[in-house]
Order: sequence, then structure tokens, then C-alpha cells
Amino acid sequence: MTPPGVARFIASLFPDTNTPSCRLLDAGAGLGALSAAFLERCATGELGFTSLAVDAYEFDTALLEGLRETLTNYVDRVPLATRVLPGDFIEQAVSSLGLWGGPRYSHAILNPPYKKIQSHSRHRLLLRQAGIETSNLYSAFVALALALLEEGGQLVAIIPRSFCNGPYFRPFRDFLLERAAIRHLHLFASRDQAFREDGVLQENLILRLERGGAQGPVAISTSTDDRFADTLEHLHPFERIVLPGDPERFIHIPTSPEAPAHEVLPGLDHTLAALRLEVSTGPVVDFRLREWLRDQPGPDTVPLLYPCHFRAGRLVTLLA
Ligand SMILES: C[S@@+](CC[C@H](N)C(=O)[O-])C[C@H]1O[C@@H](n2cnc3c(N)ncnc32)[C@H](O)[C@@H]1O
Repeated sequence: MTPPGVARFIASLFPDTNTPSCRLLDAGAGLGALSAAFLERCATGELGFTSLAVDAYEFDTALLEGLRETLTNYVDRVPLATRVLPGDFIEQAVSSLGLWGGPRYSHAILNPPYKKIQSHSRHRLLLRQAGIETSNLYSAFVALALALLEEGGQLVAIIPRSFCNGPYFRPFRDFLLERAAIRHLHLFASRDQAFREDGVLQENLILRLERGGAQGPVAISTSTDDRFADTLEHLHPFERIVLPGDPERFIHIPTSPEAPAHEVLPGLDHTLAALRLEVSTGPVVDFRLREWLRDQPGPDTVPLLYPCHFRAGRLVTLLA
């Protein structure tokens, strides 16, 4: 469950779009922490909607009563209609998208479940029907929420950052980048601090997407932990986030305002393949390679480089 401070930060990322009505989707709503933070902003007048509807999907029957209670707390404070939808969000979203195009939401707020989806599972087949090819529940929830958003709709989610690279998430990145503009990415600097109290070690990020938006610069913010006391924010050109011409469409998240090394060092525009280099990500350490070590370089040797040989993006050799 999302701690209140993180829920407040997530809700704070929705811009005031000056639209009179809001239809909010909370998929995998738990006890409604995220919807509550959103409704709290509405109740204080920060988001000035004249009508609000919340659809909260939750699978775990033990949480439904608490979820209803959380939402009901707001009916006297904002012009609100709520629906708690028990059961499987994936099943319901895919079937409504297929039958009648699905409901259309103006906002979606998510802290979805994280779990691998097996390649022949029912979820995988259902998602395929909706044109979504993905192997984790979290990316499935984000893709479905995006499919259910109207043009200009806003989605804010807290999810693992594993979708940013790797071949498995390539179809998901394509799905996302073809339908939405990335407006904001927030990173927690400390891997184990996002959910300090639950001890969740997952490396999470928070992202805001705008369905059908024209892609412009992306706001990147960082904070050490969920107290957000030291939050820093910088705008970066989109070309710094997804490099032009990158067929994998990896999502890079610069954490400092400076231009990254590949922009300032023109020589860094070669791929490893073009340089005929291969990378092993296993632990290449000298004590396991003793028989291959040479004291002096020769025609058939290559340098063994350590992190200390790199400074500010440059190779620094210690040879005289
Ligand atoms: C990580 S928790 C987050 C709960 C809540 N959004 C929050 O931020 O506190 C994910 C929630 O998704 C629910 N869930 C898991 N699989 C689901 C499914 N297929 N359909 C709907 N809800 C599901 C879980 O029961 C859990 O409450």
C-alpha cells in the first residue's frame, strides 16, 4: 500500500487542466490511498472539478469494505460518484475495450501489482486481444489504463523502472511512446528508501503520461526518499530521454542538469557493435582471470579496465 506521503506526491503531479469534470481510474486500488490523495487535492480546491467520478478496481475481497469507506469519506466534501469494481481489472478492461471501446477516463492513478505474467497464461492471452504484449502485471495495468484514457487524459503511476530498458519491455515502450507524451519522471535516489516502512527494495519511479500529447521537454525530479525534503527538478529535452534513432527506445533518466557524456563528446556516437566490441555483464574480476593476466601489453592483449579508470566520462590511464 502506498504510504500517505508518496500518495500525496503522486497526486500532486496532476496538472490543473481547467476541465469541469473528472473521471478517475484507480486500478488495483487497495484501500484507496491514491484516490484519497487525489480527492484530498480536489477537496481543498486545488483541482477545481464541478463533478467527479471514481472507478476503483480491486481484486482482493478483504480490501473492498475499507476501499468503499475511504471513498465514501469524500462524498460530503466533493461532488463525487464512486464505483468499487471487484474482480480482475485486466479481465474487465480487456472485455469492455473489446465490446464497446471501454469507459473513457480523464485521469488514472496507479500503484499496480508487480508480478511476472507467464507467456501462455490467461492474462497474457487477454492482453494480446487488446494489442498489449507485456510480461509483467505492472506494465499491463499501465498499458490498459492508457488505452482507457481519453485524448489529453493524464496518468500518474508508481512502478518499477525495469521497463526503461531490456528487450522484454520493448513492446510496452512502443505502446506507451506511440500513445502518450512523457511529461514527468521522478526517481528515488536511494534504492531502498521509497517505501521505508515496508522495507520494499524495488527500484521504483513515478511517471506522468499525457495521452495523445505532443512530446516536449520532460521534467525529471529526484528525492532521496519518500519525505521529498530534498526534491530537485530539471527539464530535459526528450532527445535526451529516448535517443533519436535508438531502435530499442530505451528510456534514459538523467539525474543531473548537465548534458550527458554522449552529447558533449562527439566521439561517443558509435555503437559497441560498430566498434566490434562485446560486453559481458558477468563479474569480470582479476582474481578469477589470473592465467590470462599479462604484466606487459602485447599484440594479442587488451586492457583490463576498472571503474577507477573512468573520470567524468573519460578514460584516464595511470600509465606514465
Ligand atoms: C501494490 S498494491 C497497491 C494498492 C493501492 N493502489 C495503493 O497504492 O495503496 C496493488 C493492488 O492491486 C490489487 N490487484 C492485484 N491483482 C489485481 C487484478 N488483477 N485486478 C485488480 N486488482 C488487483 C492487489 O490486491 C493490491 O491491492
